[in-house]
Amino acid sequence: MNDSSPTTTTTRIAVIGTGYVGLTTGVCLAHLGHEVVCCDLDERKVEQLRAGVVPIVEAGLPELMAEVVEAGRLSFSLGSDPAVRTADIVFLCVQTPQDEDGSADLSYVKAAANEIGPMLEPGAIVVNKSTVPVGSAQVVAHALGRDDVHVASNPEFLREGTAVHDFLHPDRVVIGAETADVAARIAALYDGIDTKIVSTDTASAEVIKYAANGFLAMKLSFINSVAAICEQVGADVLAVADGVGSDERIGSKFLRPGPGWGGSCFPKDSRAVIQIANEYGYDFSLMRYVIQTNEEQFERMVHKVIRGARRSPEQSLDGVVVAALGLTFKAGTDDLRDSPSLRIANELARRGARVKAYDPTATGELSAVQSERLAAFDLCSSPIKAIEGADVAVVLTEWPEFAALDLEEIRTALRGNAVVDCRNLFDPEKVRAAGLNYQGVGRS
Ligand code: UDX
Repeated sequence: MNDSSPTTTTTRIAVIGTGYVGLTTGVCLAHLGHEVVCCDLDERKVEQLRAGVVPIVEAGLPELMAEVVEAGRLSFSLGSDPAVRTADIVFLCVQTPQDEDGSADLSYVKAAANEIGPMLEPGAIVVNKSTVPVGSAQVVAHALGRDDVHVASNPEFLREGTAVHDFLHPDRVVIGAETADVAARIAALYDGIDTKIVSTDTASAEVIKYAANGFLAMKLSFINSVAAICEQVGADVLAVADGVGSDERIGSKFLRPGPGWGGSCFPKDSRAVIQIANEYGYDFSLMRYVIQTNEEQFERMVHKVIRGARRSPEQSLDGVVVAALGLTFKAGTDDLRDSPSLRIANELARRGARVKAYDPTATGELSAVQSERLAAFDLCSSPIKAIEGADVAVVLTEWPEFAALDLEEIRTALRGNAVVDCRNLFDPEKVRAAGLNYQGVGRS
């Protein structure tokens, strides 16, 4: 069966939380043929969704949501009552933010479980979809306050910007359940998808999620360190990544050096897994170095801009104008959470530079939250407007429109002549041939 035809057995599903995980999960499960109600406590968000407005940037989500709403398989509810009362399976997709000590804050998960506990039908399954610490299945079971329902883990591996694709074309579906029957009922939801089902206990499923994100962050910190070595020895990190990534045991994905990794997951999950390990008596020092290496990468990017402005790291950047191209944590999303681009731009402003910033989504439709977070910058409506009069143009997010910029136009618009390309979008030779000073990441 291909991944677009509805499944044979229709299951009644309630999804608690309509963030990018909850909304994507609800829409895609409805697309697979199930009856889904997406529930949220945020009245404005529920009204937007009922009006067909998708409040996040996710390729394909608006179209798919319209399709399943039209088919009558997806609806939205303010609060989880009465959807939970008739649901066979309830997905918890609420946020698990970071506590001060880096551990995951389960208060939203517990609150949701406390609320839905009394409403559930006997035999219903409550599924942790949010990234939760090892042992959370027991925490949820306790918060539900009953022993005639089941708790399982079904972690998501969705990347922002490609969440719909990732949901419908997963490398695997991981299910953590205490009985084969519960695992089979959850696996049946994905009948319309041709993929591997990894069925295990809840603790293992919870570890899989943290280990996957931790490994991906480690792979990035590794290639970013190799990029720094390449710069010193005159090697080209793109050739190195190709040569290394061609080894099937390593793989070529997630080997693109950049300004450092960020987003709403890696920073939170990498710290949380260290806390979890600590609680169980293991010092996950490797992950601490992965995080430290990432922090050092931000600093390395700042120093590239300082060099481009012909200043020394000890000097302030007073009088320097920097064009910051890109503020979101990666292209294809409007998410500024833990964005390396934002972090680096803010550090340049803190050092005294005037930062003219452009981002296709962040400086386009400014929400109240975003405008506060961008207060340190002069926001520009186009890349060239940001570059005009700047001493240094720094590419921070890999938006395709930056790679398409005309080098001649950049040179004419700049007051200085420096390009710092934190995403290796440009060909160094072409940039230098245009009379510009080029610094990439790991480019000799
Ligand atoms: C990540 C995981 O990929 C996903 O499986 C998990 O469910 C949630 O966290 P996401 O944070 O949305 O997804 O983005 P991702 O595409 O993984 O990028 C994470 C960070 O790594 C970004 O800052 C990105 O710019 C950076 N990155 C990614 C690189 O620097 N180089 C790469 O080759 C890939």
